[in-house]
Amino acid sequence: MIIEPKIRNNVCVNAHPLGCAAQVKAQINYVKARDKVASPRRVVVIGASNGYGLAARIVSAFGSGAATIGIGYERPGTASRPGTAGWYNTESFKMEAEKERYQAWNVNGDAFSEEIKSEVLEIVRENLGEVDFLVYSIAAPRRMDPKTGELYSSVIKPIGKRFTSKTVNFLTGEVSEITADPATEEEIGHTVKVMGGEDWRLWIGMFQREGVLAKNFLTTAFSYVGPDFTRAIYRDGTIGRAKKDLEEKAVQINELLKPSEGRAVISVNKALVTRASAVIPAVPLYIALLYKVMKEKKLHEGCIQQMYRLYHEFLFTGGPPPVDHKGRIRLDDWEMREDVQKEVAGLWGEVTTDNIRDLADMDGLRDEFLRHHGFGMPGVDYTQDVEPDIF
Ligand SMILES: NC(=O)c1ccc[n+]([C@@H]2O[C@H](COP(=O)([O-])OP(=O)(O)OC[C@H]3O[C@@H](n4cnc5c(N)ncnc54)[C@H](O)[C@@H]3O)[C@@H](O)[C@H]2O)c1
Repeated sequence: MIIEPKIRNNVCVNAHPLGCAAQVKAQINYVKARDKVASPRRVVVIGASNGYGLAARIVSAFGSGAATIGIGYERPGTASRPGTAGWYNTESFKMEAEKERYQAWNVNGDAFSEEIKSEVLEIVRENLGEVDFLVYSIAAPRRMDPKTGELYSSVIKPIGKRFTSKTVNFLTGEVSEITADPATEEEIGHTVKVMGGEDWRLWIGMFQREGVLAKNFLTTAFSYVGPDFTRAIYRDGTIGRAKKDLEEKAVQINELLKPSEGRAVISVNKALVTRASAVIPAVPLYIALLYKVMKEKKLHEGCIQQMYRLYHEFLFTGGPPPVDHKGRIRLDDWEMREDVQKEVAGLWGEVTTDNIRDLADMDGLRDEFLRHHGFGMPGVDYTQDVEPDIF
């Protein structure tokens, strides 16, 4: 089958297996070309099949030779239908890791469920004994409460008042106005339930109860803050409320971990185009302007550069990481630099459909989005037939 990208409303609904394998390989090569990192050797990554979690897993394995258990919720390809990018990514990761004799287990299923937690626990018990480091990197649309069976859906909406903003269709480059109505109390609660920190705490609690947390165990989860013009929809909106909950849970997890001298730390990461961020109103336009400014200033990073810097310069330096007044690592330090934000704000005011190609890095945004789905990778011949169930 010839597989070409199918994109609707900033969502790409298919993926190319060989292209995904190539982009995993490119991330691996990035890490292998750099200094080793002194990071822990028994690692669990929740949300390991895409974006930040995949990059973290790659740095753990190829930067320090760690054994990794990666959990993702993905659909495999069949003979007649391509699977999701995350499926191809994790399968290719495992193949590459095993070539270099790094142990790797893929667990595909709902990380919110008790079944998947038990499956991971079994793998830890049988193979690793203990866990040194857990990365929590889930971006999910819904969650079923494992106790009650109730289904919660997350929404991306402002809180309190209506939000109107510029946004962009990044395939056509059309800049238009988007309006989002404020969330109801129920929607806010549901979003916190899905994207807040409750499940992160459940994972740590389970490992602790079962006695598989190593001394000095470390865990990290990812948050985002961002600029003023996305504040109403992001940080002050439903998703920001969930991120505040995640940050509060870090404090609770730190209390839990005190007896074994473990630690939980939030990393506030840079805005990047991933499957998750592409669907947040206004955010792709902000990212296209941000990429333009950061590339000009030679400050641009993708997921793998961010994760390598997180490990190499913040988490595993031998001393405590530099943190902000709320105890968070600020991996968005370059994004939030005053000169960067000032320039992006200027461009934001000016940008229209007519001038977007000059003011924003639309090609960079689109190329990176497509690469997340295995399209546009150098060395892959997209005119050739490929078996969708090759992995
Ligand atoms: N992309 C950004 O700009 C950005 C910036 C800062 C922080 N973050 C945060 O980083 C984290 C990861 O985001 P991303 O952009 O890398 O997302 P992504 O969409 O690229 O990856 C999400 C991962 O979560 C997994 N997942 C989703 N539902 C699951 C479930 N029920 N069970 C198991 N796995 C599940 C997916 O399989 C995938 O591996 C999120 O918490 C996000 O808020 C993202």
